[in-house]
Parts: sequence; C-alpha cells; structure tokens
Amino acid sequence: MEIYQKLLDGNKAWVAKRLQEDPTFFERLSKGQSPQVLWIGCSDSRVPANEITGTLPGEIFVHRNIANMVIHTDMNMLSVLDYAVNVLKVRHVIVCGHYGCGGVQAAMGSQQFGLIDNWIRHIKDVYRLHEQELESISDPQARFDRLVELNVMEQVFDLSKTSIIQNAWKTRQLPYIHGWVYSIKDGLIRDLKVSMDHTSKLPPYFRSENPVLA
Ligand code: CO
Repeated sequence: MEIYQKLLDGNKAWVAKRLQEDPTFFERLSKGQSPQVLWIGCSDSRVPANEITGTLPGEIFVHRNIANMVIHTDMNMLSVLDYAVNVLKVRHVIVCGHYGCGGVQAAMGSQQFGLIDNWIRHIKDVYRLHEQELESISDPQARFDRLVELNVMEQVFDLSKTSIIQNAWKTRQLPYIHGWVYSIKDGLIRDLKVSMDHTSKLPPYFRSENPVLA
C-alpha cells in the first residue's frame, strides 16, 4: 500500500474514533477556534505538537519550522505570532526545541546543505553568543544538547524583542512565553525555566515602545 493511501485510511479511522468519543466533536470545532496556546516547534516529523502534549485539534495554534526559530524578518512567523497574540489572544507562547535536532547539528558543522544554510546561520549566531560555555563542554553530545537548549532560550528572548509581544504585555499583561525541550529518546518534555512575561526587564535597546500605548 502506498503511504498516501495509509494516510487517507488513517483519517477515516481517526474520524470514527473521535465521533465515538464525542459525537459533537467536529460540529463544535466547525464553529471556531479559541486555543490558549501558540506552539513554535521544529518541523521534525518526530515532534508533533498535539500528539506529544496529549491535546486535541482546537487546543494549540501551531507554527513549525526547521529548528523552531524566531527570525525577526520571517513574515510567516510574524503573521502567526500576530494573529495568535492579537486575534486569538493566546495566554501562552511555547518555544519547544528537541534534542537531536538536525538543524542545530548542522549549525555545529561546516558542511553546506544548500539554501537552508542561510536559515541555519541564525543558529550559528546563538553558538557565537554562547561560544565560551559551549566550548568548555568537551563531550560532543553534551555540547550538542546544550546548544539545543540555548537555541530555545534565545528564541524565547527573540520573541520578547518583538513589538507584537511588547505591545500585548503593555495592554493585557499577556502572553507568558516558555522555553521547552522535547526528548526524542524518552518522549518527555523538559521545561527550561526561562519563561518571560510582562514583568521581564529587557535592555533599553531591545525595548519597543509604542507612543500610542504609552
Ligand atoms: Co529539529
């Protein structure tokens, strides 16, 4: 059987299971969404947001790209963030990285992979920022794991630098931003405890003040 056929069959079985558990499931969801969480995760096929968090359609608004990056000129990410924060009014934004991330691994090497090198270069900037700490770790696996964590931390910080987040913090003291790492080896998520919220203090050059909201 071709894989695409397996997907279509899987969909039918899934619908039957959902309806068995809740006959109004699709009818309810068709009326609209009000997720409380925006998830920014890696595109890696092993890290599906809903499945690993035991959540259902309707509970998480999702943005995924290679290595769960928050790049300031990425219109896709900015549009998702703006919609989630200002229209859906999510309470939480979660950046979830994962150990064994191929994007992060590529950033630690020097091999060319093509167009993606330009995306990966942002992770190299994270490496440079934390070069001292990373180069003090002699075990290559431990250094790789640490860069995965530092990359998540920097993306949390990058979110806080956006005017979208700063304006929302000013007007409604939300959302909370969290940094998590998922382990492909045991399926567990680790909270890096690098959360930021409206009380977080940013360096003056990263503050983005809207005179209308002042
Ligand atoms: Co990845």
